[in-house]
Amino acid sequence: MQEVRGSIPLSSTFYFQGIFMYRSHSCGQLRASDLGITATLSGWVHSRRDHGGVLFIDLRDREGLVQVVFNPEKTEIYKSAETLRSEFVIKVSGPVRKRPEGTENKNLGTGEIELAADSLEILNTSQVPPFEISQFSEASEEIRLEYRYLDLRRPTLQRNLILRHKIAQNVRETLNKEGFLEIETPMLTKSTPEGARDFLVPSRLNPGNFYALPQSPQLFKQILMVGGLDKYYQIVRCFRDEDLRSDRQPEFTQIDLEMSFVDEADVMGVTEKMVAAAFKAATGQDVKLPFLRMPYKEAMDKYGSDKPDLRFGLELMDVTEEVRNCGFQVFAGAVKDGGVVKAICLKGGASTARAEIDRLTDFVRKLGAKGLAWIKFTDSGPDSAITKFFSEEDLDKIQSKTGANAGDLLLFGAGAWKSVVNVLGTLRTELAKRNYLYPKEQVFKFLWVVDFPLLEWDDKDKRWNAMHHPFTSPDEASLATFEKDPGAAKARAYDIVLNGTELGGGSVRIHRKDVQSKVFSVLGISAEAAKEKFGFLLTALDFGAPPHGGIALGLDRFVALLLGEDSIRDTIAFPKTQKGTDLLSGSPSPVAPKQLQEIFIKTDVPKKIIPS
Ligand code: AMO
Ligand code: AMP
Repeated sequence: MQEVRGSIPLSSTFYFQGIFMYRSHSCGQLRASDLGITATLSGWVHSRRDHGGVLFIDLRDREGLVQVVFNPEKTEIYKSAETLRSEFVIKVSGPVRKRPEGTENKNLGTGEIELAADSLEILNTSQVPPFEISQFSEASEEIRLEYRYLDLRRPTLQRNLILRHKIAQNVRETLNKEGFLEIETPMLTKSTPEGARDFLVPSRLNPGNFYALPQSPQLFKQILMVGGLDKYYQIVRCFRDEDLRSDRQPEFTQIDLEMSFVDEADVMGVTEKMVAAAFKAATGQDVKLPFLRMPYKEAMDKYGSDKPDLRFGLELMDVTEEVRNCGFQVFAGAVKDGGVVKAICLKGGASTARAEIDRLTDFVRKLGAKGLAWIKFTDSGPDSAITKFFSEEDLDKIQSKTGANAGDLLLFGAGAWKSVVNVLGTLRTELAKRNYLYPKEQVFKFLWVVDFPLLEWDDKDKRWNAMHHPFTSPDEASLATFEKDPGAAKARAYDIVLNGTELGGGSVRIHRKDVQSKVFSVLGISAEAAKEKFGFLLTALDFGAPPHGGIALGLDRFVALLLGEDSIRDTIAFPKTQKGTDLLSGSPSPVAPKQLQEIFIKTDVPKKIIPS
């Protein structure tokens, strides 16, 4: 038998070196140029077809599919092949030959050839799988997660995880070249405030005390800078006990980095370079650098979001001045109260049915708006229940400010700036979905959002919260004034946004203890509480902390966005459900009373909240 030995140059990702017992090639690798050689393949039976006494098997592994033919003349092997079922694991050997004319499969890389089996070994059998192993499989997500090992055999998930690997490797390559060091930080640690609840871990050796799993390595990476380990990075698991959505998991992965003696531009520059290189490795496409930089105020004013989706227009337009003195009380009253009036122009939207406008009105009401005023511009003039409140001159001013023409629909929001931009921003995305305004082909619109406020007023708790986190530095001008006028202070923070999703965020940090203490005080964190929670950081800042800054990007989100996947669950090998459960292993789960005793824990869960 002619064996294939030595290293084989592969177009695929499998790279064989030396002699392998189970296989000479991967299933997706053989081509017409391999005709005549004898190959050994191992993999899963993808499908079996019986054609007039000849048996065909599609054999599958990570690299693809190949057709294997069993001829009845080889009686024993044929008999054995007749017992094969989907997902059996087999090893076959035989010559690679050309498929008969007319039976080639252009959709398969291996479609010109087949392997004529002259040996077959069944390595393992399989139960009938609960769903088909195919990219078209329509199984429910619960079943897919319970049998994740079968789900992982599907080409789509394999492609996603391979791309994730490529991105992670490429990020490491770029950062290594830039002189970064990969350093691990603890998983059993103290709480870091990133805005979510902590996952707690009881300490057996310190009864009644708890570790927190890190929401991010924020404090440790800052302390690494104080420790002189300039340019740190880590591809690191983070844990946040928060309500889950399609772009949030309780454990997720950050590309986390920190640098000393840098300003915003330095961190953003390295990050762009890293993102562009990973993007190229994943998609083969170049992105133009530098990315657009948009101040927070502009993003909110124009797009009603601090993570604007630039793949479509529908910008918010300010008509406050145009309606200040109009006769429509909803508008004039809002302006008189110090609010704003903004409009979105839906081109060609004048044909929108009343029922659809009513649905949009319900949509904004659910977001907290009082209503949704509208004007249709038709060939015979403006058409709306509210036009009677406007003079012709008012309507002309609105039309010229918004660029609305005959055939268009204007939708208005009136009220306090923050609530108007938030509502219209969400409506903007909804309108794009309902009216198919996203580009048909996949496009990637990266940008930086900069010049964030340092603090955000929490009306419910009547206190200031950090917009990013409490370690973010106020900008130079705000350093002297932020205690007196916290609302006006600007942060040295930046977010990287892709197609309407926040990919990452970071900042230049506070490196002086006095400034950090003042920020804690504005945030209502008392000196004692600050000492108890972050005393170790405050002390470290007092021992020659260098100016430093960094950023963290969500790896799961990056992969999902590049692949156009709706959920980050499809970019993670073993994700949790919306309820935070792992259906494969069955966690979380009760533990033996003895285990609880050892850590001095008693549970006291009311019966009615125990999930069934
Ligand atoms: P931040 O909290 O913005 O910043 O997190 C950075 C990025 O991590 C991703 N991310 C998540 N991905 C999936 N599931 C989640 N639950 C989740 N939470 C966050 C997002 C987000 O942009 N220490 C700071 C960074 C810094 O200042 O350097 C931090 O953690 O993509
Ligand atoms: P009303 O005077 O409440 O009957 O509202 C007249 C029109 O203005 C209706 O189409 C409402 O949906 C709309 N409307 C009411 N309040 C607001 C608001 N704050 N912003 C935008 N439109 C509003």
